[in-house]
Amino acid sequence: MSEPAPLRVLDRPGGRIEVYPDADAASRAGAARFARVIAQATAARGRAVLGLATGGTPIRLYQQLVAHHKDGELSFANVITYNLDEYYPISPLDPNSYRYYMQRNLFDHVDLAANRTHLPDGTVPEAFVDEHTAAYDRWIEADGGLDLQLLGLGRNGHIGFNEPSACSVDEALALPTRRVELHPVTVADAVKDFGGDVNRVPKAALTMGVKPILAAREVIMLAFGAHKAPAVSAAVSGPVTAGLPASLLQTVAARVVWLVDTQAASELG
Ligand code: PGA
Repeated sequence: MSEPAPLRVLDRPGGRIEVYPDADAASRAGAARFARVIAQATAARGRAVLGLATGGTPIRLYQQLVAHHKDGELSFANVITYNLDEYYPISPLDPNSYRYYMQRNLFDHVDLAANRTHLPDGTVPEAFVDEHTAAYDRWIEADGGLDLQLLGLGRNGHIGFNEPSACSVDEALALPTRRVELHPVTVADAVKDFGGDVNRVPKAALTMGVKPILAAREVIMLAFGAHKAPAVSAAVSGPVTAGLPASLLQTVAARVVWLVDTQAASELG
């Protein structure tokens, strides 16, 4: 598995930042890290528990994982996955659901057992949502915690669907997996996926909390494109605040690596 070298490596309060010439190179570096974590965790504990993300950003990384699997270099036989989030309510058969995205971009193409791929369930009855999200955190703990969490960065600095809020840093760090209302920036960014009709965008989601995300033994944040540059810069070297959830990664910086392209790094100086 060829691993590209970063153009630059920066150490910032938010973690180690590796700058690559483009999203493709950064995604290949991310896939190589995935393969290492899968090998190491499987050797140490007999399984690897991976936290996964959706959106446009991780698609190339998943393509790399599928290619390595098809080449016979990478097996998911001992992998368990937990995704960050899912719209609520939504059917897994809806092409806009994150379950559908994961099946199409990764799960259908690798040797992952169906009962080892977990996403928050967009079909849970209203009355059982809190029970379901609390159980999600217990499932992760029962599997030994996340060996790796993959993240994308919202333009508003969200991680998963942990949206900007006015709560204290301590409160933000303690947030569990739960139901949330979507932030206006997140809804605006999702409109294109829902036929341009803002009324079709779900108003709520189920998201892994800040607490289980930051408990991962390793965190990979991917950010590509100039539109992510302000959020990258603020998150890695601005104040730690619940108003920019990605800045909370500064509290676990030793376990965080940012794989970014030159455009997303353009405001880092
Ligand atoms: P994107 O979304 O990968 O589609 O840019 C990232 C995010 O909002 O977390």
